[in-house]
Amino acid sequence: MRLLFIGDVVGKPGREGLAAAMPSLRAEHVPDLVIANGENIAGGVGITEDTAKDLYEAGVDVITLGNHTYRHKDVYGYLDSERRIVRPANFPPSNPGRGHTIVEAAGMRVCVISLSGQMHMQVDRNPFNLIDELLESLTGGADAYFVDFHAELTSEKVAMGWHLDGRVAAVLGTHTHVPTADARVLPGGTAHVSDVGMTGSRSGVIGVKREQALRAFRTQMPVRFDGADEDVWLMGALVEIGDDGLARGIDQILVPVPS
Ligand SMILES: [Fe+2]
Ligand SMILES: [Fe+2]
Repeated sequence: MRLLFIGDVVGKPGREGLAAAMPSLRAEHVPDLVIANGENIAGGVGITEDTAKDLYEAGVDVITLGNHTYRHKDVYGYLDSERRIVRPANFPPSNPGRGHTIVEAAGMRVCVISLSGQMHMQVDRNPFNLIDELLESLTGGADAYFVDFHAELTSEKVAMGWHLDGRVAAVLGTHTHVPTADARVLPGGTAHVSDVGMTGSRSGVIGVKREQALRAFRTQMPVRFDGADEDVWLMGALVEIGDDGLARGIDQILVPVPS
């Protein structure tokens, strides 16, 4: 089974870039399941029903989220009703949305889990303890498990890879929007990378126009942020998963979007 995971899709340039890049990605990699992090798809922060539908239309099967999940209030009902979208499982249980979902791909039941780091992030539960309980409760319910670990620190992300090695097919990091060069299959059979990067404009600062980001850093005054839109790249990773639910390989995907 071939799983394509796409890092934080940022704003309209990211959504359009994803749609433009998808045909050639499909032809080259022939993915059975496409998962994308959509926490930045609506105006660069958060998600709406319409922008989620743009991703589904472009060929995404499941959307994962992160710290910007609840930016737009009118999406809360959609998060409850749409089974193909997941928000961090370690948010308060009563919050809108679900933390995991199970989909079918290439004859396998794949459980897609969204999980948030706890370092410099706000969560209800320690992600290491929560994922142990969740995986135990899901035993036998899926043939493979995928975790989008949305976290700030590479240390916490590397630790989560080791924590889940041998128990899930992949633990792929998101949130920083900057890809790390450490993709590998860990000894127990879990594909890991600290951060897959983002799908959006490289001309700015993690998605924001660079003049505005620089003004904020230089003046330390409040600055209105708009999305950067030039030099759009798609960033993610392709994971090959065996019948035993463990990874056979991982390749990072860092490609300019055809304009
Ligand atoms: Fe993000
Ligand atoms: Fe984030």
